[in-house]
Amino acid sequence: MTRKPDYPTRLIREGSTEVLVPQLEAFQKKPFEYAPSKAPVFYNPVMELNRDIAVIALQAYQTMLQREISVCEPLAGCGIRGIRYAKEVKGVKNVVMGDINEKAVQLAKCNVQKSRLSHKIHVKHENAGFLLSSYSAPHMRFDVVDIDPFGSPAPYLDSAVCALRDGGLMALTATDMAPLCGVHPAACLRKYGGKPLRAEYCHELAVRLLAGCLAVTAARHDMSITVLFSHSIAHYARLYAICEYGAKKADESLKNLGFVLHCFRCFHRETTKKPLLEHLGRCGECSSKLDFAGPLWLGKIMNSGFCALMEAEAQKKQFKLGGKIDRLLALARAEADAPALYYVIDKLCGALGLPVPPVRDVAETLEFHGYNAYFTGFNSRGIRTDAPVMKVKEILRLLKMPDGKF
Ligand SMILES: C[S@@+](CC[C@H](N)C(=O)[O-])C[C@H]1O[C@@H](n2cnc3c(N)ncnc32)[C@H](O)[C@@H]1O
Ligand SMILES: [Zn+2]
Repeated sequence: MTRKPDYPTRLIREGSTEVLVPQLEAFQKKPFEYAPSKAPVFYNPVMELNRDIAVIALQAYQTMLQREISVCEPLAGCGIRGIRYAKEVKGVKNVVMGDINEKAVQLAKCNVQKSRLSHKIHVKHENAGFLLSSYSAPHMRFDVVDIDPFGSPAPYLDSAVCALRDGGLMALTATDMAPLCGVHPAACLRKYGGKPLRAEYCHELAVRLLAGCLAVTAARHDMSITVLFSHSIAHYARLYAICEYGAKKADESLKNLGFVLHCFRCFHRETTKKPLLEHLGRCGECSSKLDFAGPLWLGKIMNSGFCALMEAEAQKKQFKLGGKIDRLLALARAEADAPALYYVIDKLCGALGLPVPPVRDVAETLEFHGYNAYFTGFNSRGIRTDAPVMKVKEILRLLKMPDGKF
């Protein structure tokens, strides 16, 4: 029998799963303290949406495979994520969870028992790298590996890739947004092997830096990656990618790596797969010196077919945050094949000294002028378009005019 926690807990419900979690207020000494990291075991209620979407993504993947799947979650905290997979995703055969914190392991075991899932879930008190490596033999590997750490998943990627079977699904969370969004560029280069940028589309860059790092790590093991879905909200970036064995496939996968060139003066941006020369050259629009991000992933960061599958699966389940999930999935499906690097309208208007129009008006005007325009789940004020930045600016000026004429 597993011991009950000897610290204050409360019963919470996410999806159709109920678990005990630390009672966060009991550990928060000052109002500004980040309560989840003060508790003896980590639980962050803000990540419910992340876990809901993970349940949907795993269900979509299982539906694609049409067979039972195995899952590994080596940084499990109180166990809620792994328990939700076992309970809410049809076709999950078994889940192996782990944590280095003994109290987390105890609480996760207690929650597994409470959920009557001891036959499906094994909880191990092990270091994540060690746990993953112990499942790296070909017949031991998992269909899904989910790395949900404090900060960066980069240190776990090698062992995670090795624990994934051919065609398996890798799910990664990164919460180190300060490095990924360019506040600490040295840390980003160190962890992800690419330079970030403090540009307004940095949440997309965060996903692309994470995917680039996964592609390089997978290639070391002769594996390719195909990104199926990604999202980045507030303090994290999340990525779902299929990893497949084959040296040729890995070579092809690496062809998706490249750079983003950005002009901080006029907001022009472009992507390039050419090797970056020391002198980046000048902006084609305003001749200012260009800055860059990368190397990073320039391939697709969402697959419209997979997004549609996720939407269909989401309809079959009940979530408290159902409205948000539906909006995010619909946006993702619509923007999956849209141009990279969205514009944030407020940022452009701020620089131009213009009032901020509704994004819908900007999108409609772009379309009226013959360009494509898409909203993005990365930023509610963002627009993806094939229009050059000068045209976007022209349209923002146009929208300021009372009669809509230049
Ligand atoms: C962000 S929390 C996990 C949250 C959980 N996945 C969820 O959805 O609620 C990260 C967890 O990783 C554990 N951890 C940190 N370093 C570890 C390591 N090297 N090996 C295994 N677990 C580790 C921490 O104790 C913590 O419980
Ligand atoms: Zn420029």
